[in-house]
Amino acid sequence: MVTDPELVSAYGSPLYVYDLARVRAAAQDLREALPQPSRVYYSLKANPHPGLVAALRRGGVHAEVTSRGELAAALEAGHPAGELLYSGPGKVPVELDEAIRAGVRAFSTESFGDLERIGAAAAAHGAVADCVLRINAAGAPGTAGLRMTGGPSQFGFDLDWLAKDAHRLLAPGTRVVGLHFFPLTNAADEDGLIAELAQSVRTAAQLRDQLGIQLRLLDLGGGFACPYATAGERPVYRRLREALAEVLDESLPGWRDGEPVVAFESGRYLVGDSGRLLCTVTDVKPSRGSTYAVLDAGINHLGGLSGLGRLLPLRAQPTGPARPEEPEPAAPVTLAGPLCTPADILARAVELPGVRSGDLLAVPNAGAYGLSASLLGFLGHPAPAEVLTDGDRVVSATRLALRRHALEPATGASAHRPEPPTVRR
Ligand SMILES: Cc1ncc(COP(=O)(O)O)c(C=O)c1O
Repeated sequence: MVTDPELVSAYGSPLYVYDLARVRAAAQDLREALPQPSRVYYSLKANPHPGLVAALRRGGVHAEVTSRGELAAALEAGHPAGELLYSGPGKVPVELDEAIRAGVRAFSTESFGDLERIGAAAAAHGAVADCVLRINAAGAPGTAGLRMTGGPSQFGFDLDWLAKDAHRLLAPGTRVVGLHFFPLTNAADEDGLIAELAQSVRTAAQLRDQLGIQLRLLDLGGGFACPYATAGERPVYRRLREALAEVLDESLPGWRDGEPVVAFESGRYLVGDSGRLLCTVTDVKPSRGSTYAVLDAGINHLGGLSGLGRLLPLRAQPTGPARPEEPEPAAPVTLAGPLCTPADILARAVELPGVRSGDLLAVPNAGAYGLSASLLGFLGHPAPAEVLTDGDRVVSATRLALRRHALEPATGASAHRPEPPTVRR
């Protein structure tokens, strides 16, 4: 078994390590938790590393992408474009054009304007885009997690708007084939998750009848949980499968024969526990009654969004340092990153046994919303290398790079389709 110090001496610190065996186990657990037949989409926003995406594809998991970078990563991982679901708010004509040219035909749409732009891009290529309407409906009462819809939101159609302007669903170049829900992420408990998904099933059946739309694909989203940057286990959902199958039987009896195809989406559940971030203590200092350990990884590498205070605060709980020969009692220490902002804190007053400069720490459960959700461009430190392991074997080692390159102004026909290079992950 290759150890963390060996990996760091081979590939440097900080270092992300993802274990493919854990990715496969998560996919298997999720499939067993879900009513069958159903489709699972992996949401690349959690981690677009093509090696992870490819492992999930080999396990029969589809891909949901929201940008040109994620599209490129999904294609690089071997997904056929015709099987991808392209979603997200604010899709611009240039990316829709690129997606349609690549062969993407299934889109989740967030508004009438979005639907019309998807249609225009498809029609320009003589194609028809199959669209699912993302719905912003009231969620189930009392469910805890980070809410995505259910109030005023950039995501999805409000139900009254949809009913009032239903004629706009006939946008040229599109065919409405179903509905999409994603009301919350990281659900706090299984009962809440079941209530949320069941509510979406019932809303879908009502909307189908009310709007007279086809329901070939019902994407119920997810909300499947995983601990983030702290120790802990992914939940195993034992009641979800049966409870949801019952609601589907009541509301949409054709689902067992694929009418509609029922789909789910997950990012964090599938890859969260596969990854750990190894980082090194570069300095330890007292400051006005607190101890600070400065690390070589900060919110530029982990949890950048929360580092800015705009999401749940980051409370990383690394393990280490391992010094069995001279055990020390745990003491509170604040873990700071190397950025020139007081926001660069991975954890406050976390209990660790006597940290020293040079110690190696391991932040667990960092496979989702780690590097790609971070402030990589801020201060220009290089990205950590990313190593994929499978059991004892290192399968790949890569480093993401942000590079500036010169551009010529677009002219003539290309002015309407400037060609920024697709981000390579
Ligand atoms: C539409 C949609 N799908 C999938 C996801 C992935 O969520 P998670 O990683 O919690 O499974 C999100 C997260 O915000 C989302 O908005």
